[in-house]
Amino acid sequence: MRPRKRRKVSIVGAGNVGATTAQKIVENGLADVVILDVREGVAQGKALDISESGPLLGFDTRIHGSGSYSDIEGSSVVVVTAGFSRKPGMTRDDLLHKNGEVMIEVAQKIRDNAPDSVVIMVTNPMDLMAYMLWKITGFPRERIIGMGGALDSSRFAYFLSEETQTSVSNIQTMVMGGHGDYMVPLLEFSTVAGVPLQKILDKQTLDKIVLRTRDGGGEIVRLMKDSSAYFAPAAAIYLMIESILHDRHRIVPSSVYLEGEYGVKGVFSGVPIRIGNIGMEEIVTLPLSQEEESAFQMSVEAIREGIRTLEKLFPQLGRG
Ligand code: 2OP
Repeated sequence: MRPRKRRKVSIVGAGNVGATTAQKIVENGLADVVILDVREGVAQGKALDISESGPLLGFDTRIHGSGSYSDIEGSSVVVVTAGFSRKPGMTRDDLLHKNGEVMIEVAQKIRDNAPDSVVIMVTNPMDLMAYMLWKITGFPRERIIGMGGALDSSRFAYFLSEETQTSVSNIQTMVMGGHGDYMVPLLEFSTVAGVPLQKILDKQTLDKIVLRTRDGGGEIVRLMKDSSAYFAPAAAIYLMIESILHDRHRIVPSSVYLEGEYGVKGVFSGVPIRIGNIGMEEIVTLPLSQEEESAFQMSVEAIREGIRTLEKLFPQLGRG
């Protein structure tokens, strides 16, 4: 076989989010993919199914389904989607115990098999799972990025585009804080064709859109009942991977470990970051209003509370 020159992306978890992300990557020729699942045959079946669409769609990128972590070796990016998703009535935090158990093994395997990769955490509760992975792998903070803000900002932008009857391409949005009920859609840093939202929409309409954004994941779970969202999450993950592999220096709100930025230390929380080849290149500091600042701090407090619960559940958590 000829040696492969394409970059490799591994996806841990072949559920809806993992498989849809994999499909996007190979269909767009972005990278070769390894998709991994502990459920015998699931990753292999989905990989084969996607591969068999290659001749129809004309892609030559390769996807390999596997049950063995040794196959993730040499990955530039590893995406973690493994674990359980929400059912109606559950919050993302309700998944803490079950997904925490999954994450211990996933983190150790990534540390041992893909020690130079950039990891994108997707599993919920995402900010806490990213924290856990950071603790266990000992990876530098630049290489662990949580996916949440990109998705929340996209939902926010879509609702604004509907409300204003304006193309999504004219809309810029920013959502900070945890990927949970206390996320903070930033009105002052979101615009329609450069015009601040408060100049276009009244308070009542804006409040309604902010609430719908915060509940964006829940709305989908209530509709689908036995699944959480996956098309928009996969698109958000794809954008982040593309930013890394093509060294785009794109600014994307994402969850990273804060070391004093925005006055916060010791938690993963959503902030605008610049994403390139090395992963997180820089945390972008926005001059938040007092109201936004206190909403952000409240969101961080909710994450801190989650970390305290996490450390009670998993006392073995120690760096490295
Ligand atoms: C969402 O917001 C699953 O957390 C993901 O839909």
